[in-house]
Amino acid sequence: MEQLNIGIVGSQFAAGLHAESYKRFPQVKMQAVAALDNLREFSSKYNIPNTYKDYNEMFEKENINLLSVCVPNFLHKKIVIAAAEAGIKNIICEKPIATNISDAQAMIDVCKKNNVRLMYAEDWLFAPAIVRAKEILDEGGIGKLLYIKAKESHQGSHSIYAQKKEYCGGGTMIHLGIHPVAFVSFLAGCDVQEVMGMATNGGETNLKHHDYTGEDWAAALITMENGVKAFVEANYITHGGMDDKIEIYGTDGNIHIDLTKGSPIDVYSRHGYGYAIEKTDFTHGWTKPAVDEFMSLGYVKELEHFIDCAINNKEPNLGTKGEDGLKALEVVLAIYKSAESGKLVKLK
Ligand SMILES: NC(=O)c1ccc[n+]([C@@H]2O[C@H](COP(=O)([O-])OP(=O)(O)OC[C@H]3O[C@@H](n4cnc5c(N)ncnc54)[C@H](O)[C@@H]3O)[C@@H](O)[C@H]2O)c1
Repeated sequence: MEQLNIGIVGSQFAAGLHAESYKRFPQVKMQAVAALDNLREFSSKYNIPNTYKDYNEMFEKENINLLSVCVPNFLHKKIVIAAAEAGIKNIICEKPIATNISDAQAMIDVCKKNNVRLMYAEDWLFAPAIVRAKEILDEGGIGKLLYIKAKESHQGSHSIYAQKKEYCGGGTMIHLGIHPVAFVSFLAGCDVQEVMGMATNGGETNLKHHDYTGEDWAAALITMENGVKAFVEANYITHGGMDDKIEIYGTDGNIHIDLTKGSPIDVYSRHGYGYAIEKTDFTHGWTKPAVDEFMSLGYVKELEHFIDCAINNKEPNLGTKGEDGLKALEVVLAIYKSAESGKLVKLK
């Protein structure tokens, strides 16, 4: 297969991340998009010839080789299964893979039965800074891995679906914390053994977002199967743009990564300018605008990898199979269980 026809379900934020990445690759053609809204703006921005309100109709009428599923979390199962049963052979599902274990397992099973490659979109694993840090760790540059600290935070989701537990599957830990959770397994090279979680519980228990039904603050202490310790955090109380920070400690050194605010550019603007980094609401004074956020957060390399898997019939890398999405979800749900019970939860 020399050129891939791309289909996208969803037309807002995550769909834009995928489309911005796809447009860099000559071997793909964005052929069709299905969504409930924003179809005209999205399709004209990315030169997509065909638009649909009904994704089933898109699956039926279009010859799609690679599908991006960029819809709210609770719809991942329904749409991935419909696509697999409609004969689409390569499906990328945004994070989290689903809102519960049985949905995630059903997606994996149906894809397997229909010989479909289900790819889990964990962009952190492709962020150039993370890839470089992993190389240094693997080379022995900081000795033996001991402890990882990782978080993603911002001031609250733009998506109304992410603000409601019934659509999201939880709050900030499932929606943002799923990135650091997947990352610690990737870096430690093994699964999570046990977690001790703490979280607000939505509504009035939240620190700030009393209208969100999921938690707006959550953290967990983790022990990996190989004894490595980790601390992961996610919150919606962070101003000043998305804050993704990582610390990696080894027996002979440390690595610190600032994924979102580590730009080499410093700008001082008296009256502000268009855009600095994701979720920044203010560009006056001193700011550090991203140079190429689609690249630095991993989306471009992630989609390059999935395109390569689809064209060359390869299995996705460790950390980006449907099964990896399920494992990350199991950890997040264990963190919730621990936060509710106040007890350590063992996964193994
Ligand atoms: N990897 C990342 O960094 C990242 C970032 C943002 C979002 N996401 C994930 O991407 C997914 C979408 O998030 P978003 O922020 O774009 O959400 P959003 O609320 O901004 O957009 C949701 C989109 O889904 C479409 N949609 C809803 N119901 C539909 C239906 N029945 N049929 C077809 N389309 C439907 C809407 O029309 C809209 O275009 C979520 O799973 C989210 O977790 C991932």
